[in-house]
Order: sequence, then C-alpha cells, then structure tokens
Amino acid sequence: MEKMWSGRFLASASNLLDRFNASIMYDRKLYREDIEGSLAHAQMLAKQGILTKDELKQIQDGLAQVKKEIESGEFVWNISDEDLHMGIEKRLTQIIGDTGKKLHTARSRNDQVAVDFRRYVLRKNLEIAKLLKALMQEILTVAQQHTETLLPGMTHLQHAQPINFGFHLGAYLSMFKRDIERFESSYVRNNISPLGCAALAGTPHNIDREYSAQLLGFDSVSVNCLDTVSDRDFALEILFNISTMMMHISRLSEELVLWSSYEFGFIELSDEYSTGSSIMPQKKNPDVPELLRGKTGRVYGALVGLLTVMKGLPLAYNKDTQEDKEGVFDSVETAEISLEILKEAIKTMQVKPQNMQSACKVGHLSATDLADYLVEKCNIPFREAHFITGKAVAKSEELGIDLSDIELKYLQEIDERIGEDVLEFLVLENSMNARRSQGGTATQRTKEQLDYFKKYLEEKK
Ligand code: ARG
Repeated sequence: MEKMWSGRFLASASNLLDRFNASIMYDRKLYREDIEGSLAHAQMLAKQGILTKDELKQIQDGLAQVKKEIESGEFVWNISDEDLHMGIEKRLTQIIGDTGKKLHTARSRNDQVAVDFRRYVLRKNLEIAKLLKALMQEILTVAQQHTETLLPGMTHLQHAQPINFGFHLGAYLSMFKRDIERFESSYVRNNISPLGCAALAGTPHNIDREYSAQLLGFDSVSVNCLDTVSDRDFALEILFNISTMMMHISRLSEELVLWSSYEFGFIELSDEYSTGSSIMPQKKNPDVPELLRGKTGRVYGALVGLLTVMKGLPLAYNKDTQEDKEGVFDSVETAEISLEILKEAIKTMQVKPQNMQSACKVGHLSATDLADYLVEKCNIPFREAHFITGKAVAKSEELGIDLSDIELKYLQEIDERIGEDVLEFLVLENSMNARRSQGGTATQRTKEQLDYFKKYLEEKK
C-alpha cells in the first residue's frame, strides 16, 4: 500500500518494517483527541483564510463520518498506515477527496501527537483524581465509625502505643489527598497547547495558535516549539503520580493482608472480594490487596521505562518517543481498576473491633504513659522515668500480664513515689485519649482530622 510519505522513496516498505514501526494498534485509543485536534486545527485554518468555509465544512463532515465509522467498528485499522494520525487522514481523504489533503497544512504529526497524547493524559489526571475522591469517601465512612476503636499503633511492626482505627485510616486519607493534589497540579501545569508547533520550528503560515488552543480547552500556548514537540514531562508526571498513588495503595493493601490473617484478625474481607484455593478448601485468600500490591510493580516499570526512553534524546522529536504511550495507557488502566476495586473491598470488609482491642492487651502499650506519669506527677527526669518503667515492664513480664493490668503494689515496690492515681494512666483508652496534641490520636483530635477530610471532599464535589 502506498504511504503518505512515499514521495521520495523508490521501493515500498517491507511488512517487517510496518510491524516494527507502527503504533496504530495502540495509539488508536486516542482517536477522539485526534479528531477533536483536527477539527480545531481546521477551524483555525478557516478563520485565518487558509481554508475556505466550504473546505472546512467538508473536513468537518468527513471527520464526523470517520468518527462514526470508528465507533461502529467499521473503520479498518491498518498497520501499513503506521499510526492513527495517518490512518484517519487517509480515510478522510477517501471520503471527501482532495480537500482532505489540505488538513495537514501548518501541522506535523509531531505537534499532532503531542496534542492528542497530552489531552488524553490531562483528562486522565482529572478522572483518576475523581476516583481517588470516591475512595477517600469510602475510607472516611469507615474511619468515622471507629474513632474509639482501639488498636495497637506500631513502629517497626512492633506494638508501640494504643491508637484508634479512625486515626489509622486518617493516615491513608492524608496520603490520598496528597495524591489528588499531585494529579490536579499536573493538570494545571501541563494544560498548554502544542498545536501549531508543526515539525519543530513553527510554520510560515499565518496561524493563530491562541485560537486553536482555546478551542481545545488549553489554558495557554507553549512557548518554545522545539521543546514542545519533544516534551513528554506530562506523561512522566502522570506515571509518577500513579506510581506514588500505587505505593500508597500497596501500603494499605499490605495492612489489609496482615489484618485479614488469623494472627491479626482485625478485619475480614467480604466473600465477594476474596478468593479460594484450588487445593485447600478452608482457605479464603486476600487476592485483591495482594494483586494491588503486585500491580504497583508494573507502574513503577512504566515510569522507569519512559524516563529511560527520554534519557539522552537529542532535540527535537525522535521516534523513540513513540514508546511513550503503552506504559501510560497500561498504568492509567491499572490505576483506574485498582481504585475501583480497593474502594469496594473497603466498603464490604468487616472490621473486628474486639480483636483490635484484645491485641492492645499485649506488648505493654501504656509503658510510655507510665513514664509520662512519672515525669508529670512525680517530677522525675524522663531518662530516669524511662528506666523505672522498664522495671515495671519486666515485672509484668514476670507476672505474665500486660502492664495495663498490673497492681499498684508492684509499681510501688519499684518506686515509692508512685501514687494510686497512676492506674488511670495505664488504662488503654486513657492512653489513647491522652495524645491530644495537634494531629494526635485522641478521639477528639481524630474527629477533627476526619472533619477536615470531610470538608475537603465536600468542597471538591
Ligand atoms: N506515531 C508517532 C508517535 O507516536 C507520531 C509522530 C510521528 N512523527 C514522525 N515524525 N515520525 O510518536
């Protein structure tokens, strides 16, 4: 088949080249962006007197027809057309004749692909941010029900201090809010039109870049054409945004896996979002969070892949850049389904406050409270208080009990300055509620934090 660029070639392209060179099998996903870009370009050309009104009309009708054919599945995607830009232009010309050949005036596939891909990525930044908000809403709903539900707060995966489950989930709300902000700021930073940069250096035609930018919903026009046709920062940004978001998702997933184990028993994932074993009939496996954790790896791969593709490319466009799309498409789809299924898994999971509470009875979670008591009520320097508390912990171990259950007499044997009022300090609820400093776990503070996220989500609607 004759290529659009075949003018200077004597022999036709080999089929092997077609298979190697083509992007049409995957960039066809951008057909809407491509047609909208062409319509805006044609409209601008007509406004500038480069196309007649009648030619514009033919192009508009022709592109509408192409779109219809694509959406009905009638359109024939052919690898010998190389990419969607040439596939669509060729079909347009078949439909409307020679006027179709005028559409590419003052344009190159280099600015065309930059427009299409950038607009896809911009849209996906906002769509993913929206899915993140829905996930946050679901987490918030669970968190609000558990601002008094004690569980062991951990460092190094060791029992540290008692916190409440709402506070724990509030940590994830903080992460996902930052993720949303990243997606949104990428949108704002990159909403700049490449259209009219042509191949690399601009065009001698009297075009109006502001006008076509406005038609496509861009906020402004890019400053330097040489940069614009080779810039893929916007794609790297969404990959980084997705990678960071998936990192957060995988941290939460890891906790869901741990929490749903017999050893923890803090939650039970619903049957709907769990799987069985092909050999062990008793098993209920947390495949959803495990797979979410695993999928994080492939989006990191896409990010590192594109960074590597871009590394060392001379200005301006290079064919290497065609490798930008598949990793982004795959990562976007991974992000979307991950957010949806995580939301459902959280919505349908059963929280087991009793088991969380019992877990607080191991590990002497109120040890810091005893030390704080010695400092506050007995005027003992913290280092010494730490030492005395260590003795109390050792005594509890010897008695086979948790520090929160120790009798006063044992404490007074260790240090006679300890008064009866110490017992209040050792109660786990009190320990949690004592952490009233800003951003702390006390139920009242947790509620304030959750209110903050609630307000954020309401404003975002
Ligand atoms: N399919 C190409 C890509 O995705 C479009 C741009 C091609 N430009 C060129 N001069 N070969 O990057």
